[in-house]
Amino acid sequence: MARVAPEENYLQDLKDRFQEAEVLDDSQVPIIDFSGDPKYIVDAIAWACQEWGFFQAINHGVPIASMKNVLKLAKEIFNQTSEENEAYNSLGNKLSDDPSEAYRYGSGFNDRKDAKAIDLKYFLRLDYSLAREEDIWPESPSCFREVMKEYHDQVSTFGHCLLDNISKGLGLEKSYDLKVMGEKIICIMNYYLPYHTPELVKGVSAHSDPRAISILIQDDVGGLEVCKHGRWFAVKPVKDAFVVNIADQLQIMTNAKYKSAEHRVRAHPEKSRLSVVAFFGPGMDTVVGPLPEIVSEENPPLYRECVTKDYLTQFYANGLDGKRSLDYVKLDRAKV
Ligand code: OGA
Ligand code: NI
Repeated sequence: MARVAPEENYLQDLKDRFQEAEVLDDSQVPIIDFSGDPKYIVDAIAWACQEWGFFQAINHGVPIASMKNVLKLAKEIFNQTSEENEAYNSLGNKLSDDPSEAYRYGSGFNDRKDAKAIDLKYFLRLDYSLAREEDIWPESPSCFREVMKEYHDQVSTFGHCLLDNISKGLGLEKSYDLKVMGEKIICIMNYYLPYHTPELVKGVSAHSDPRAISILIQDDVGGLEVCKHGRWFAVKPVKDAFVVNIADQLQIMTNAKYKSAEHRVRAHPEKSRLSVVAFFGPGMDTVVGPLPEIVSEENPPLYRECVTKDYLTQFYANGLDGKRSLDYVKLDRAKV
């Protein structure tokens, strides 16, 4: 079992704590049924991306057994000793061209460099795309490779289906191939520790994800919240659903037509919580900026072009801090 860090590493200052009273329920977070009419799916995704940057997907075509297996694997991993898990850090780092590194097991977000209070979680991050290509998966637990390869292929198919539908909703399908936004898939397994007084700690600080889209499985504990127009909504677990969110690079490409959603995780007083996230984005050398098909004289670019690697490097240097990373590419006319 993961060891618990000293309390001074994760108790939050009064000013940084999440406020209880402000959280609304999830009745309005869109739920999209992927078994529906194709036109409905395109329109529902377009609307959700514009209004929320966040939705839940049901009947998405990924076998439920595959989702269950990956959560079970995550459970097994976080039941191993810290020493066993730290061994993942010696695997594959040098093969990565990603500033987040190919494999990393750790705690909280800021444990390496900051004095800032850390998030009360452990995580294992691995570069799915690289592991798949180079066949460099960890070999323990013994089902690791089999489960992750299967899940990678399934979530990759769903991710590309999403990108395809997003393209259609933007009217892009003939002029620009959004597939490039699914070239790299990074996986993070999160294990959130319980805390008897949840308001004193954070599971994950508020942030938007830096890549293009994120596809998440959560268990049934809850705690994930999304921000819309300054108000926070609980994203309650829906059976067998994926939680999907728009990330910064898609906000940049659509010139803010679609918004990356700021989200956070609250700790539970008694239960630990698991989630598995697949982050889809372009390769490290891909230049990302507002798409020519979207900008116009009336809708001038709000962001400058930026190489993906540079965007991610500054994201990791900032730590989780709302949507601050977007400032790095904002042009003056966007700074209002
Ligand atoms: C993340 C994240 C949310 C969750 O890993 O970027 O926001 O529910 N996770 O684990
Ligand atoms: Ni996130």
